[in-house]
Amino acid sequence: MSETTARIEKIIDEAYDTKTFVFGWDAEIRPGQFAMVWVPGVDEIPMSVSGINDRTKSITVKAIGEATRKLHELKVGDAIRVRGPYGNGFDLSGGELLIIGGGVGTAAVMPAIVQTGADAIIAARSDRDVIMDDLAGRYSKNLRIATDDGSKGFHGNAVQLMKEMAREKHYDCVLACGPEVMLHFTYEACKELGLKCQLSMERLMKCGAGACGCCVMDGMRVCKDGPVFDETQIPLLTEFWKSKRDACGRSVSLR
Ligand SMILES: Cc1cc2nc3c(=O)[nH]c(=O)nc-3n(C[C@H](O)[C@H](O)[C@H](O)COP(=O)(O)OP(=O)(O)OC[C@H]3O[C@@H](n4cnc5c(N)ncnc54)[C@H](O)[C@@H]3O)c2cc1C
Ligand code: FES
Repeated sequence: MSETTARIEKIIDEAYDTKTFVFGWDAEIRPGQFAMVWVPGVDEIPMSVSGINDRTKSITVKAIGEATRKLHELKVGDAIRVRGPYGNGFDLSGGELLIIGGGVGTAAVMPAIVQTGADAIIAARSDRDVIMDDLAGRYSKNLRIATDDGSKGFHGNAVQLMKEMAREKHYDCVLACGPEVMLHFTYEACKELGLKCQLSMERLMKCGAGACGCCVMDGMRVCKDGPVFDETQIPLLTEFWKSKRDACGRSVSLR
């Protein structure tokens, strides 16, 4: 684990509500791991590492609340404080992979696409919500886009497209990050098709390092034992696609 205050070297506008920030950080990071990003005066929040180079790393931020909107105000040359990496990350040794990113979850799977060149799906509500497809297209052997409204690529959701691709080609394992409803149906489809899977989950996090207990699901700390869980662990997560905890520790239904 390392902690650094880095200068932002580059900012990429991915979509109307999403930006990638590239900054100097020489930490060793595996695809699927995340960092805790300090937003002065507001919060410290988990962000997947969306780009991994020797000297630089990046995070890709969707502005949805106070902390993420504050991050969007940062300019090239401003300082950003990060600690990490945290979490287990993806296991990329599982044979023929199909990698799925839904919405801003695409950020979490991008390093896995870059490092493996595996077939990939980027899914979003519409054309204007699709992110990082240029980068993924440079590395993936077969990149497909799915949009709910059909404004770009396949007309339908990620899981419908995944089933179509799995009919045409053999895959051993599906890696995915995205909204929990997408992860649920990805898991169900993998069971049906007899495929292994690794799904990256999101829960409220405070320490990110396994100490505070606020991200615990059925005895597993999402920040340390996850955020990536495989098909043997997912049936043990009884809160998966049912509920999550809010900042006060209350259980909130996901359906
Ligand atoms: C391991 C991990 C990795 C993550 N990686 C990323 C990443 O790479 N990029 C990224 O942008 N985020 C990522 N997140 C989510 C990010 O940490 C949260 O979105 C962030 O903490 C929100 O902080 P905030 O103060 O801006 O919003 P808050 O003030 O905490 O939330 C604002 C409101 O938005 C609602 N909300 C929460 N999630 C969503 C959503 N997805 N869409 C719409 N509304 C929502 C909340 O219910 C709340 O009402 C990750 C989370 C985890 C656990
Ligand atoms: S965030 Fe503290 S234990 Fe996971």
